[in-house]
Amino acid sequence: MADEPLVLGIETSCDETGVGIVRGHTLLADAVASSVDEHARFGGVVPEVASRAHLEAMVPTIQRALKEAGVAASDLDGIAVTAGPGLAGALLVGVSAAKAYAYALGKPLYGVNHLASHICVDQLEHGPLPEPTMALLVSGGHSSLLLAPDITSDVRPLGSTIDDAAGEAFDKIARVLHLGFPGGPVIDRIARDGDPDAIAFPRGLTGPRDAAYDFSFSGLKTAVARWIEAKRAAGEEVPVADVSASFQEAVADVLTRKAVRACKDEGVDHLMIGGGVAANSRLRALAERRCEDAGITLRVPRPKLCTDNGAMVAALGAEMVARGRSASAWDLSADSSLPVTDPHVPDPEAHTHSHAHSHTHDHDHVHELSRKNLYA
Ligand code: KG4
Ligand code: ZN
Repeated sequence: MADEPLVLGIETSCDETGVGIVRGHTLLADAVASSVDEHARFGGVVPEVASRAHLEAMVPTIQRALKEAGVAASDLDGIAVTAGPGLAGALLVGVSAAKAYAYALGKPLYGVNHLASHICVDQLEHGPLPEPTMALLVSGGHSSLLLAPDITSDVRPLGSTIDDAAGEAFDKIARVLHLGFPGGPVIDRIARDGDPDAIAFPRGLTGPRDAAYDFSFSGLKTAVARWIEAKRAAGEEVPVADVSASFQEAVADVLTRKAVRACKDEGVDHLMIGGGVAANSRLRALAERRCEDAGITLRVPRPKLCTDNGAMVAALGAEMVARGRSASAWDLSADSSLPVTDPHVPDPEAHTHSHAHSHTHDHDHVHELSRKNLYA
């Protein structure tokens, strides 16, 4: 609809320079420039290399997105940008670019949370998110179960990893197997030729006394690495496909089991899975089956929208505009450890005016955010 907010979103939290444009829940452009090849030989993302690549890719990627969407920058209703969490230097490039464009164009600026964006992106695929939304967020830096009554103002963590993130485990195991970086997509591909039941790897934190919604992948990672080392020490060939499939099965099993349990416990009849690891084919298939068995509707965006992109930032920005959330201040800064409970970074001064020009549906949430800002 033409009256829905037209928002451009910029994402630079890691190694992807993403620029997306959405109108409400409709995706108009999703331009991504990745520096992953520049990091591959180091086996992980090198922050300084990423920042420099963002700087070079920023303006061309914005121009490409505007052209793809067929809109003029002057038509935008706002500019959204990932304010955190992520690599400080990388975030800074996106935040600076967003400020420059917003200020020059006279548009409101919305500094938003990368993790909430990974959830909100599903609106572009499956329409409005149910409220509350139960989300399993699995990426290279995070693994959490989140309950979000309102993705623009109220995101509650039910549990998270106590050590490695799920994507991190994929990357580390791929390294041990000499499969390159990032590990997730390679393991996903190789595992198709393997037997997921070949090796019984441990399922972390699944005992009766363990925290129901927390995750742990460090023990699994060590167990897989030891298993591989033992094979090598014995001079035997490592069955890469079986190891990949069995490791992937352990991750997918724990993630889906806990997510379905959280839905049942909280009485939520649907589950959203987001973040880079949500692109994993086995996780998607197992989640599909377990959700169906439990009468839960599963929502997972297409793989390209699961890994980092600008469209997800635009999607959350558009929702902020639609719900009348206050824009960010011009001195918005990048926050490498922005908590998941802050879907965006509102202007701390805005609460004094929030009643005067309030488009908001929910005053309590605005007060909640203002209070947090005052006393944080
Ligand atoms: O969300 P994302 O693109 O960046 C972060 O915010 O971290 O997630 C990147 C992570 C990496 O660890 C990568 O190995 C993993 O997502 N990943 C996958 C797959 N595609 C990406 N993991 C498993 N299977 C995949 N197909
Ligand atoms: Zn991400």
